[in-house]
Amino acid sequence: MLPGPTNVPERVTRAMFTHMINHRSSDFVELYEDAVEKTKKIFQTKGDAVCLSASGTGAVEASVVNLIKKDDKVIIPVNGEFSGRLAQMLEWAGANVIKLETPPGENSSFDSVKEAFDNNKDVKAFYCVWNETSTGTMIKYLDKVKDLTSRNDSYYVVDGVSIVGGEELKVDKWGIDIAMTGSQKAFAAPPGISPIVVNARTKKYMMENPPKTMYFNLPRYFKYYDESKHTPFTPALPLLYAYREALDIMLEEGLDARIKRHRICSGALYSGLSAIGLTPFAKEDSRSTVVIALNYLEGLEDNTFRNTLAKKFRVLVAGGFGNLKGKVFRVGCMGEVHRYHVMRTISAISSTLDMMGYKTNTADALKTAEEKLKDL
Ligand SMILES: Cc1ncc(COP(=O)(O)O)c(C=O)c1O
Repeated sequence: MLPGPTNVPERVTRAMFTHMINHRSSDFVELYEDAVEKTKKIFQTKGDAVCLSASGTGAVEASVVNLIKKDDKVIIPVNGEFSGRLAQMLEWAGANVIKLETPPGENSSFDSVKEAFDNNKDVKAFYCVWNETSTGTMIKYLDKVKDLTSRNDSYYVVDGVSIVGGEELKVDKWGIDIAMTGSQKAFAAPPGISPIVVNARTKKYMMENPPKTMYFNLPRYFKYYDESKHTPFTPALPLLYAYREALDIMLEEGLDARIKRHRICSGALYSGLSAIGLTPFAKEDSRSTVVIALNYLEGLEDNTFRNTLAKKFRVLVAGGFGNLKGKVFRVGCMGEVHRYHVMRTISAISSTLDMMGYKTNTADALKTAEEKLKDL
């Protein structure tokens, strides 16, 4: 139940156990083209997709180094570790970064983003971390940002690393120019493949203004793909097989059903865990449907709690980041999360708290969760 890496289905693991192929062969073309086309379906885009052999940070960095030039003005909401890192990358790329900072656990409102656009008519791009994994918050107005970016054709970039595949995302319809994720989160594949999608106008800009980098040089990936369906560098072949299998599983389930399942399971986790006395860290209107961050009860020690949960019940949850370390823990609700995982997590957390001397009522908590799960 980590917010990544998440549980990987047996089918996906098995797909990796295969002989190596030549990445300049028709076998590779069949594998890679299939992975690219299915990735586009998940992101709901007719643009280009590149499946980078990298962790999520690689795809996020690629979105920065291929788009941002010195002194470009960029707006970005910042409310946690990952939005902070993205703002840092933008600064390193030389951008003039307008940070819309809110306390962790809260999101910038759409009105504050609008105000930033009103005050900065020359903005080149809006970047955002859709799901701030470090605090369990999620931006809920992705579909409205186009009204702002379309004013002066600024670019709209979404870091969806911990959420794509678990929540609704309509890249083309919502006017998103670049979006990316990591395979180890809601795709339920092993870590190491990070897809990034880029629409036609952004691709044109990148081709005409290529970055001075080698590995994350997206124009180079576009050129190789357009000419031969190859990648410029040796890809992580076993991971690509696993990734393609994970895409098949996602498409077999269907995006709508998958999103519904994530929403129902996280709803049940919030209710069940609240019923045992835990309180969510994020403000109600900002709460994520894929990462549930919870405040530690008074006196509850982070390592003892998580180690007991892991050793006695084999349930893994994550701790907090930075100054939230020891103050919150995070439950992932991504990828392979079903009724069984929800019920087992709630009962394991409740029993662990009980063992550590806190009064809990596991039966009540499970009943509350079951009520939410009935539509699954
Ligand atoms: C929102 C977000 N962006 C970027 C990253 C970085 O991904 P990775 O650790 O795969 O490099 C993460 C990782 O959890 C994340 O949650």
